Amino acid sequence: MFSARSDSQVKIAPSILSADFSRLGSQVQEAEQAGADWVHVDVMDGHFVPNITIGPLVVKALRPVTSLPLDVHLMIASPERYIEAFGQAGAGNITVHVETCPHLHRTLQQIRETGSGVGVTLNPATPLSMIEPILDQVDLVLIMSVNPGFGGQRLIPQALDKVRRLRAMIEDLDCPPVIEIDGGVNRSTIGDVVAAGADVLVMGSAIFGAAEGIGPALQALRELATKNRSA
Ligand code: DX5
Ligand code: ZN
Repeated sequence: MFSARSDSQVKIAPSILSADFSRLGSQVQEAEQAGADWVHVDVMDGHFVPNITIGPLVVKALRPVTSLPLDVHLMIASPERYIEAFGQAGAGNITVHVETCPHLHRTLQQIRETGSGVGVTLNPATPLSMIEPILDQVDLVLIMSVNPGFGGQRLIPQALDKVRRLRAMIEDLDCPPVIEIDGGVNRSTIGDVVAAGADVLVMGSAIFGAAEGIGPALQALRELATKNRSA
């Protein structure tokens, strides 16, 4: 699942934050049929971030609905308290914010023990140096290109430089982590995001909020991503 550059196709991870929650199962299936690679699940606690969303029960409910990996993004304080629950619910990856983990090394080990992919992420104002010591222990690094908490925000351009610098930092690793980007990725920004070196693109409003529907939106974004990946 994590071979990044060897797999030249960019992965698309629709974020269910922008989905119609009254029809969540069918919306996820529509995204899968349109060629989504992962399903991004935004977990918010009203404490680390201002919004409150969903918990392990929803991950468990989604698990039989799709064959895609469930990419769980924990925007919660003390994530170590919930890692096991998300692992048991069927998370494919579990990503924690470095800002919430004073014992980051231990927390990443805890994720590893669940059998889920191990992810770490940083807010836009958090420097890459915070994760430098653990880069060889994670399967993915998620670069936040908005301040977490809400869908539909504008991409912060400095995130692109962060992606480029992270790409350079990991190039000598035997098993480099996948670079994922989250926030404000849409038809206008996707070209720059892919050119900067992101492997996995999280997109909420650009897919689930698209007027033309989930399938056509995802296919158009896929074409734009492919064009810029090979450029
Ligand atoms: C923001 C979430 C994102 C969000 C992205 O805190 O982590 O995953 O769904 O939404 P868009 O793609 O609309 O910026
Ligand atoms: Zn997210």
